[in-house]
Amino acid sequence: MSARKIIIDTDPGQDDAVAILLALASPEEIDLLGITAVAGNVPLELTQKNARKVCELAGFPETPVHAGCDRPLGRPLVTAEHVHGKTGLDGPQLPDPVMPLQSRHGVDFIIDTLRAEAPGSVTLCPLGPLTNIATAFKKAPDIVERVQEIVLMGGAYFEVGNITPTAEFNIYVDPQAADIVFRSGVPIVVMPLDVTHKALVTSARNDAFRALATPVGIAVAEMTDFFERFDREKYASPGAPLHDPCVTAYLIRPELFSGREVNVEIETGSELTMGMTVADWWGVTGKPANALFIGDLDADGFFALLTERLARL
Ligand code: RIB
Ligand code: CA
Repeated sequence: MSARKIIIDTDPGQDDAVAILLALASPEEIDLLGITAVAGNVPLELTQKNARKVCELAGFPETPVHAGCDRPLGRPLVTAEHVHGKTGLDGPQLPDPVMPLQSRHGVDFIIDTLRAEAPGSVTLCPLGPLTNIATAFKKAPDIVERVQEIVLMGGAYFEVGNITPTAEFNIYVDPQAADIVFRSGVPIVVMPLDVTHKALVTSARNDAFRALATPVGIAVAEMTDFFERFDREKYASPGAPLHDPCVTAYLIRPELFSGREVNVEIETGSELTMGMTVADWWGVTGKPANALFIGDLDADGFFALLTERLARL
């Protein structure tokens, strides 16, 4: 089977970084057409810089990286330095990037790529707030039907929220953008906290990254050492949840994951539940399913895949 053409839309973020590394290490399954950065974990000027740092760490400085939107559609930007550090990529000491930032805006790269590639041949992989995707859909409605699938990290249902009692960070930062995407009609696979909180980097798993004894393996271990503080303290969990790499791993080995086709709508009215992904798990609304909502994974299989692929870089 030929490699799947994808665009990664991202707000690095340590977990975004691991998702990008996994994609770059998997050319048999993934043809990474380009990366678009968005404001999220940290402001845009840092997310676009971090995306380039990660591409250079992986040995892929030719990867086209674009800066996208620097703020949500209709709300002030909320960032997450408390989780990811002030640089957004705290942990390893990675050099400033030498590779250039593309001059084309990330939204225009998404539009141009979807218009240039065969209809239904490009998958969008958002790992942060959905601002770039929604802006592209608003600016060029003709591209919506050309998208093969959206595989995103975001949302939560049974696991409830991580930034508010009801909302997950990516959706909470730009709920209006998420509403546009979930109403778009594009087939969506959702990797919510329900599954990403089962992808925990235990000490043994992080030791396996470090034992690769490569710049990538050591950097990933150092990212996790930093990134896990928040979740260990908040959830008393045994390690950091690798949220975003669930997206990339799904593209490589979807059989590692399981979920349910349900209707998902986004709260955009109430401040109390703003950004909540309301998953109609029992079909009580009668509304058609618009998303495959993933709830479980083979965690050992996930980490075996991740470690094996990171060893390639
Ligand atoms: O809630 C987790 C998500 O928010 C992840 O994508 C993380 O990188 C942050 O963007
Ligand atoms: Ca992210």
